[in-house]
Amino acid sequence: MTAQADIGLVGLAVMGQNLALNIADHGYRIAVFNRTTATMRTFVDSKEANGKPVVGCDTMADLVAAIKRPRAIILMVKAGAPVDEQIALLRPLLEEGDIIVDGGNSHFRDTQRRDRELTAAGLHFMGTGISGGEEGARNGPSIMPGGTAAAYAKVGPIFQAISAKVDGEPCCIHIGTDGAGHFVKTTHNGIEYADMQLIAEVYSLMRNLLGLSAKEMAGTFAAWNQGDLDSYLIEITADILGQVDEETGKPMVEVIVDRAGQKGTGQWTSASALELGVPAPTIAEAVFARALSALKPERVAAEKILGAATPKFTGDKAAFVDDLKDALLASKICAYAQGFALIQAAKDEFGWDTDLGRVSMIWRGGCIIRARFLNRIKEAYDRDPALKNLLLDPYFRAFVEKGQGAWRRVVGAAVANGLPVPALVSALSYYDAYRSGRLWADLIQAQRDYFGAHTFERTDREGWFHREWARG
Ligand code: 6PG
Repeated sequence: MTAQADIGLVGLAVMGQNLALNIADHGYRIAVFNRTTATMRTFVDSKEANGKPVVGCDTMADLVAAIKRPRAIILMVKAGAPVDEQIALLRPLLEEGDIIVDGGNSHFRDTQRRDRELTAAGLHFMGTGISGGEEGARNGPSIMPGGTAAAYAKVGPIFQAISAKVDGEPCCIHIGTDGAGHFVKTTHNGIEYADMQLIAEVYSLMRNLLGLSAKEMAGTFAAWNQGDLDSYLIEITADILGQVDEETGKPMVEVIVDRAGQKGTGQWTSASALELGVPAPTIAEAVFARALSALKPERVAAEKILGAATPKFTGDKAAFVDDLKDALLASKICAYAQGFALIQAAKDEFGWDTDLGRVSMIWRGGCIIRARFLNRIKEAYDRDPALKNLLLDPYFRAFVEKGQGAWRRVVGAAVANGLPVPALVSALSYYDAYRSGRLWADLIQAQRDYFGAHTFERTDREGWFHREWARG
């Protein structure tokens, strides 16, 4: 085998195949390997791959031999043990300066560990977030590569070429060293969870409080998609709500069980927020909301015992739909504010030089949370690269100020009618808490000192104090 391929890829499930085709379409010769050889053969012989610069390899050794040095090999395998297994197989075959790219949704701590191990062995490791699902992998994903600048210099041009483009700009930048790429991708997913949950809560209010039909809701979401809320998730929501089940003639959403799965990245985002002490309640609520949804049999049984809500809407439905739009956007701003604050904290903690404004740029296309509003985030970081929280930016501040009446009416109506809206409530509380110069924690400090002599600070002088509370 002559070493002519520009890059290699291991793992030919749908994402791997689509990424390989995308790379080949951009004129790069790609060598591919899959644990089950038949899968590789079927792919290489498929009409999609036929005639493209795709080189099928029967063994890992063939794959390594087929790639020009320094070699770059992308792993597109399931996160967790399979990544370590493939690295263990590849490692003895590689030479100093070669690069292993992990394109899966790996935990950033695993990426940091693998980076340490491979760096010690003279190799480069690039933990790389790739967003956009199967379609994105094929036609242009958003790519978040971590690792050394030297490795990025080699692989970056290929990634930029295959990524989505917005206004001619590739949706791919070097995110930072070791785990930065996977951390940012995980946070993307955390925001994705929050965004989806917020949309789902708004949908449930339209349905359960206003009694709108799926068709009416589809029209509303489609209209919203023309304005500030313009985004992939709103677009697919409109599409989903407009689709009808051929078997029953009912709207598709009515025949789907209200129980959502999850693969773990939302949990990871929330766990990182807890570890780093960053308030990201709306993201966490979205994860808990999935856990609540998963209690389907228990909820059905509880409804019989505790009684279901009996919502009654009195008022102007069209005006409330407008309120829902403002509430959704304001809440979404809070979810993004939490996600960006989390990246900022991780960047400080791990010494990454991640550029938050540029992260928002590469999320404008290709990825699941792509949205028009990401341009506004970029502008916010242009105005103030050291921006502490998106809510402090003049544009977002003005927007939330203007929308907060609607936001409160929506949350108030949901609460009054017994309808659960955990993410909308949490986003509003986040906003209210963030703008409170004085919170409730004076009492918490007193309680801690009361039962555990944990001491407290005073408002009128420096230092730490303890009081003998039992003395009175
Ligand atoms: C993406 C997505 C993707 C993720 C799915 C499902 O950016 O392309 O985030 O990486 O796997 O969204 O995630 P859950 O199963 O956890 O909902």
